[in-house]
Amino acid sequence: MTGATETEATPGWAGHELSLPAWTYDNAEFFELERERIFMRSWQVVCHLNDIPKPGDYFVFEFLDEPLMVVRGDDGAARGFYNVCRHRAARLLDGEGGGATGSCPGRIRCPYHAWTYDLRGRLSNVPREAAYPGLDKQAHGLVPLETETWFGFVFVRCEPGGPSVADMMAPFEDEIRPYRFEEMQATGRVTLRPRRVNWKNLIDNYMDGLHISVAHRGLKGIVGRSYALESREHVQQMSGEIEIAAGAGWSEKAYAALLPDQPYLPASHKRHWRYYLLWPNIAFDVYPDQIDFMQMIPLSPTETLIREIPYALPDSTREMRLTRYLNWRINRVVNAEDHGLIERVQSGMRSRSFKQGPFSEDEICLTAFARKMRQTLPVCRLPDPPPPGGIRASLRTAG
Ligand code: FES
Ligand SMILES: [Fe+2]
Repeated sequence: MTGATETEATPGWAGHELSLPAWTYDNAEFFELERERIFMRSWQVVCHLNDIPKPGDYFVFEFLDEPLMVVRGDDGAARGFYNVCRHRAARLLDGEGGGATGSCPGRIRCPYHAWTYDLRGRLSNVPREAAYPGLDKQAHGLVPLETETWFGFVFVRCEPGGPSVADMMAPFEDEIRPYRFEEMQATGRVTLRPRRVNWKNLIDNYMDGLHISVAHRGLKGIVGRSYALESREHVQQMSGEIEIAAGAGWSEKAYAALLPDQPYLPASHKRHWRYYLLWPNIAFDVYPDQIDFMQMIPLSPTETLIREIPYALPDSTREMRLTRYLNWRINRVVNAEDHGLIERVQSGMRSRSFKQGPFSEDEICLTAFARKMRQTLPVCRLPDPPPPGGIRASLRTAG
């Protein structure tokens, strides 16, 4: 955008990089820009292949007003589509029993006028077809989404193009491989936790290393000693080794004592907690006993849904069940602590007194994320919002 000032060049504190300006955390036009230029162009995880094991099994996923779905084909492939009928746009599939999964063996039949698609998305049957002279059935298949399966997880992208998930995660591929993500099964249903904050506020908090020792007594007591950050182009990583220290409560101590040895994990993995943030909004929490993904789904400039599903290798031993329960207990406290913190930040950002703050040199992940935002959406280099209508007008131009 013309007139944009490089805040990196005029930081206000010599030598410091600055956080993104507060206006980008509650501005409706900027939110539209993020929707189009970031989220429609980024990979979103939908489910795991093991959530849809048989042909006709599907997983529905609503993302920024786009009804999406992943369907397991008769050839075994998982394919993403818009969950929208080509006739009158009716939503085609719903999760069964209030969930996100279901099964439509053999075909997808629209509940409105019974247009029918095969499991690869091709329009196979149109009732009273003769009354649509010249209808090209081939041109009216389900609209596909770019789809990629990475270590068992199925990702979709609304606008194709750009690096693959595998490319983006490549720096950590060797580290992730031993966990055997592909063999994992969901251990619970999708949880959706609403938060009254901008999505970036959740992401910032996820990557924030400085607050662990201040705000998370329990977490500090289990992985705080060695907590470390690593920053790559598309992925930010936080990690720590399990080592009981001051601050640990009984959950942390019991978890550290009980955690069963996983013979398939190398020594570098047996007692480590690792967190990966895949640009822009997908977090993988990776523990020796289980993993989960947390996806920050923006709903409005100041509302975000945390969509989370835990996965693990099948193991019903008593020790493992207890370990997983303790992990949940520890992280439930961490989540509650963070919930309070992000709301404080969101409300502080509304104050006229705050525009931007400095990043410490140690905050490599936060700094990298803010840089990537500035690179992707140059308008967020402006310390103050552009005049109303300016961002909307720029959205109408190509780019
Ligand atoms: S809207 Fe789907 S068949 Fe008419
Ligand atoms: Fe936190």
